[in-house]
Order: sequence, then structure tokens, then C-alpha cells
Amino acid sequence: MILLTGSANPVLAGEVAQRLGTPLAACVLDRFPDGELHVELRESVRGKRVFLIQSTNAPVEQHLFELLLLADACRRAGARERIAVIPYFGYARQDRRAVGRDPIGARVVADVLASAGLGGLVLLDLHSPAAEGFFAMPAEHLSAVPLLAGRIRADAGERAVIVAPDLGAVKLANRYSGLLGCPVATVYKTRLSGREVKVQQIVGDVRDRTPFIVDDMISTGGTVAAAVRALTAAGCRPDVTVVATHGVFTDQAADTLRELPIGRIVITDSVARRQDLALPVEVVTIAPLLAEVVARLDRDESLGDLVSHR
Ligand code: R5P
Repeated sequence: MILLTGSANPVLAGEVAQRLGTPLAACVLDRFPDGELHVELRESVRGKRVFLIQSTNAPVEQHLFELLLLADACRRAGARERIAVIPYFGYARQDRRAVGRDPIGARVVADVLASAGLGGLVLLDLHSPAAEGFFAMPAEHLSAVPLLAGRIRADAGERAVIVAPDLGAVKLANRYSGLLGCPVATVYKTRLSGREVKVQQIVGDVRDRTPFIVDDMISTGGTVAAAVRALTAAGCRPDVTVVATHGVFTDQAADTLRELPIGRIVITDSVARRQDLALPVEVVTIAPLLAEVVARLDRDESLGDLVSHR
């Protein structure tokens, strides 16, 4: 096999490579003077199965385009198969027309990936699992929920409550609840804009309980902040844990979250780790999971026990 990565998360790609005992293939990623991205493979991929490890977090277009150019370079250089491992899939939240005259961005990205010659995908905790259907090629949809639940298990005691910060997270909360044996509460929120959300009510018992807010991602932190405020007003214990697969953290997220009674934010390294957040972040690595999946795909073995979302 050949392992390649762009610039999105070289540390994670390096850890996957190390576990597989296969060094990352050499390639050049640079720009022409006019700003166009350029890539060049520095070793032969002819006849090989290539795994391209690249999240499409910010700068989203750069990381996406690097992936597309790498995939095309591999196809033209004779790679037998090209599989993209995209731990964080940008544009996943644009999975429907929200106002009627907007595009379905996730579908556009799915089509562009296919046109670059990718023959398979490995994805992790997509915002909406049904978006897997946007891809005509095989898309293996993994989940970090068992890993994250394992990390918080010891602290999810008798007074713990799993909190879905919005209706979209209810299924996810039920999965954590099933793994941890804790009750679930749901925050009903309305999104006013990309940056603003408003809580309407909480359903479930949160008074004097320790909340574990679970979500697929933290972006601006607005959803989590609104949930923490509502939970605090409803009398929860002032020690909130937030658990999410993707720690996207836009520029203002740290400021939004820092003032709140959040003792712990548990995320994965699907998006490159950041040292500048000044938040109580704990990272659970997905490198062993990705390495296992890549190894099995390379041996044409079943992923059945890894792609179940029940
Ligand atoms: C929304 O439906 C998602 O599951 C997340 O709750 C949301 O995208 C997080 O974004 P933010 O941190 O900007 O509220």
C-alpha cells in the first residue's frame, strides 16, 4: 500500500503510518506564484492501492483541493485504487436545502471527490449519517463514539446525564446512553444564524445531575454554550463535560466556551490538535482505529464490527 497525506493533519497521518509500519510517501505540496495549489508525487504509485489521509477542515478549500489534486496525481500515475480517509468531512452540515435557494454542499463535495478518481472513502461520524448516500462509491462510515464513551466511562457515575444539545444529537445521545447506562436529556434549540442559537426548553431531568453534553462537532461553540447556560439555569451540577468527535473550534470558540463551567472537553484528533485554545481539552486519538481500517481494507477484510452505528 501507499500512504499519502496533505497538509491538514500530518501528525495524525504520521501516527497512522507508524502503526502500519509504512512511511508516508514523499510528495510536494506548494503553490504557484499566482496562488494555485500544486502537488507532485515523489515516488511511484503504479499498480498500488493508495490511501490519502486528509481531513477537510479550515482552510477548507485548501485541504479539499490538496486532496483532489493528490487523488488525480495518483490516478494519472497509475495507482490501482485510490481511497480517501477523511476523518473530518467539511461541508457535511450542508446536507439539505435549508432555505430553498441554497446548494447541498455535501453532495457537491461528494461529486467532486468522485470526479477526481477516488474509488472509496473512509469517513468518521458524519454530521448526518444518511449523507453516506451522497456517495456512489463505497463509503465506510466509522464512529469514534465507543472510543469517546470509553474515555468518560469512569466519570459518568450515578448522577450523570447525557445531554443532546439539539434535536439532531438525540440519536447520538442515545448511543452514549446505551454504552454508559446513563439517562438522556434533550435541549431544544433554534439556530438563528451560523453563529447564534437560542434554547427553547430542556426535556429530561437535569437538576443536581452532572451533564455530559454530546455532539458530533464543536465549531463556534454556540450550541454548547447555549446548552450549558440552559442546563445551569435548570439546576444541573456546575461541572459540565462536553464530548464531541470533531474539535473544529473556529476563532471565537475558545472565548465563547472559556467563561462557562466546563471542566472537560473530550474530542478526537480528526482535526489537527491545537495548543492555543486555553480550554480543558482532552484528545482521544483515532490513529489506531484508522490504522486498523486501512490495514483491513488493504487485506480486503471485513469492517463489519467497525462500521455499525447501533
Ligand atoms: C448541529 O446540528 C451540529 O450537530 C453541532 O451542534 C453544531 O454544528 C455545532 O456548531 P457550533 O459549535 O457552531 O454551534
